Amino acid sequence: MRKDSRENENMSYRITITGGAGFIGSNLCEAMLSDGHSVVCLDNFATGFMHNIRPFMEAYPDRFKLIEGDIRSLEDCRRAVEGADYVLHQAALGSVPRSIKDPITSNAVNIDGTLNMMIASRDAGVKRFIFAASSSTYGDSTALPKVEDKIGNPLSPYAVTKYVAELYADVFWKVYGLEYIGLRYFNVFGRRQDPNGAYAAVIPLFVKKFISHESPNINGDGTYSRDFTYIDNVIEMNRLALQAASGSAAVNQIYNTAYGDRTTLNQLVAYLREFLSDFDPAIIDACLIDVINLARGKYNFADVLTNNETLENAAKIQSEFMAKKEERTHENVVKTLQTPGLRSVSFGGSKRVTELITRVKATQGIEDYTYLDISTEAFFTTSLLSTKKADG
Ligand SMILES: NC(=O)c1ccc[n+]([C@@H]2O[C@H](COP(=O)([O-])OP(=O)(O)OC[C@H]3O[C@@H](n4cnc5c(N)ncnc54)[C@H](O)[C@@H]3O)[C@@H](O)[C@H]2O)c1
Repeated sequence: MRKDSRENENMSYRITITGGAGFIGSNLCEAMLSDGHSVVCLDNFATGFMHNIRPFMEAYPDRFKLIEGDIRSLEDCRRAVEGADYVLHQAALGSVPRSIKDPITSNAVNIDGTLNMMIASRDAGVKRFIFAASSSTYGDSTALPKVEDKIGNPLSPYAVTKYVAELYADVFWKVYGLEYIGLRYFNVFGRRQDPNGAYAAVIPLFVKKFISHESPNINGDGTYSRDFTYIDNVIEMNRLALQAASGSAAVNQIYNTAYGDRTTLNQLVAYLREFLSDFDPAIIDACLIDVINLARGKYNFADVLTNNETLENAAKIQSEFMAKKEERTHENVVKTLQTPGLRSVSFGGSKRVTELITRVKATQGIEDYTYLDISTEAFFTTSLLSTKKADG
């Protein structure tokens, strides 16, 4: 990596993280604190939890501060960004069905709230506004792979709100000079993801079902696929977004934050069942014949779900799931890089995938492809950015 492509490594900053008590936000708080930064978390606990951040309050009393407040209040936003170097804006009401049920509230939080955060960041002289965008912005586009500047029409109020945030970010850069990086997250999963509630994401929901010896419900025939992205990749992309050199071509851009591989719901169920049954062999049988009522007599489900050991197991299973995916990705990487006349590769935001590509290139003697369109560490090197520009 060229020296000039990163400027913020090994420095400590004051970072405001909105939605810091939520799934992704709390993981970012943890990562930023362990990187040595000071963190201010702004959250109203609409969908986040105090137990997600309490350990940081205890472990880092001098470097972690919670502001309980609402991004719909400009005043709260101003308090949260006072003295901040960077903002990682994660607060939003997620879920497409939620936004269909109540578009007004999703709009108020995701659009008005984001606008408030941008105004507060602009006025406080924040160096860069890094925010959670969404793959939902691709809308009705069926093109694959998903390339950042080729989107379709939004298919839900949620998708509209996330796209509007992208538009505002670009306008705030052009009009007020507020630097930004938007990270389009694709179906993130990982530790501290809430398995409960009507709008739970599919992986924690399925894990919870299996742990309870229930069969997950699949709408449709289970053949539709998603790019499931592990939380560590999201953390890595946020780190890179912080480190990109100010004024370089890497900033004021939107990046896919994805794994770069598709998994159908049927495959997902099969993986989870296989991995979870290593910890609880009853799962295979239970889910094959759906003996939920039988199991109910055997287990106290409330205990099972709050039992830390079980949750740790679930986290372990998730990382094993990732490892298995990486094996398959290895084959994919080899195959793709060997494609004659290759001009563009998109493997998503995994540092491990970047390392894999480097390894594969070295071992297979692949040197001559010219353009790596990859939303990862490699993307931030000046040389690749120049190539992108030249290709543009
Ligand atoms: N999880 C995914 O797969 C995914 C995919 C694409 C985009 N995103 C985006 O990533 C971000 C984080 O998502 P998540 O999965 O961690 O969701 P989450 O619900 O766990 O976290 C959102 C956090 O924002 C807080 N919040 C909500 N409304 C607020 C308000 N008015 N004021 C202050 N705080 C408020 C919540 O309390 C919660 O802590 C969101 O912007 C979401 O749109 C997530």
